[in-house]
Amino acid sequence: MDIVVTADGSRTLYHAAVGENYHSKHGAEQESKHVFLKSGLQFFLTKDKVSKAAILEVGFGTGLNFILTAEYCMAHNIQLDYCGIEAYPLPLETISQLQYSDLVPENIGLDFQNAYPKALLQETVVNHNIQLQVAHTLVMDFNSSKQFDVIYFDAFAAVHQPEMWSEETLTHVTKFLKPGGVFVTYAITGNLKRAMKALGFTIEKAPGAPGKREMLRAIKL
Ligand SMILES: C[S@@+](CC[C@H](N)C(=O)[O-])C[C@H]1O[C@@H](n2cnc3c(N)ncnc32)[C@H](O)[C@@H]1O
Repeated sequence: MDIVVTADGSRTLYHAAVGENYHSKHGAEQESKHVFLKSGLQFFLTKDKVSKAAILEVGFGTGLNFILTAEYCMAHNIQLDYCGIEAYPLPLETISQLQYSDLVPENIGLDFQNAYPKALLQETVVNHNIQLQVAHTLVMDFNSSKQFDVIYFDAFAAVHQPEMWSEETLTHVTKFLKPGGVFVTYAITGNLKRAMKALGFTIEKAPGAPGKREMLRAIKL
């Protein structure tokens, strides 16, 4: 896979078979911080006035969303339980070439590198605040006894992978979200809004990351 430098200087991967980057060309780091951290996790923590969160990510990929979330949780003393679903886990060597460790304090990058291979096999303690599991499975085969506070929905775009945005997939993943839980994604379409409303979510259009006017945040009733 080719490495691409995005507009904010952070790197991403181009997936030739899918025909899409893993992150926005307008800025991988900016997109992750805006869509998932600020509009997802920070929104949830403020709304529920809590200092712990369980996050389910659909499409763990390079781990960028995890690393930036871990940095935030370390800085704000938030207990983080993070589970990423990933059908095609990337080798650690590929992830290392993206140099995401340069975006966060050194210990967080090292903790992630140590934890990632173990987290692919089982729930793993990353450090005293954080645990990580990367469920190596197709999203429709994912199962968990846990209920999560926030879903980071980071699938490839619907034009490339429509099945990830289908009612069937959305119904399946949102089963794992607690009432009052927050679902965020970088996109917003009529189909997505209709599907989330039908699942009993309150939907909000939030300002999008650079290069996108709007994104979707949905709260489970
Ligand atoms: C847009 S990329 C995710 C980017 C990722 N969040 C990151 O920060 O690197 C979409 C991810 O979904 C994964 N994926 C594709 N089809 C899937 C499926 N059916 N089940 C689970 N994961 C899938 C891909 O392998 C890819 O890593």
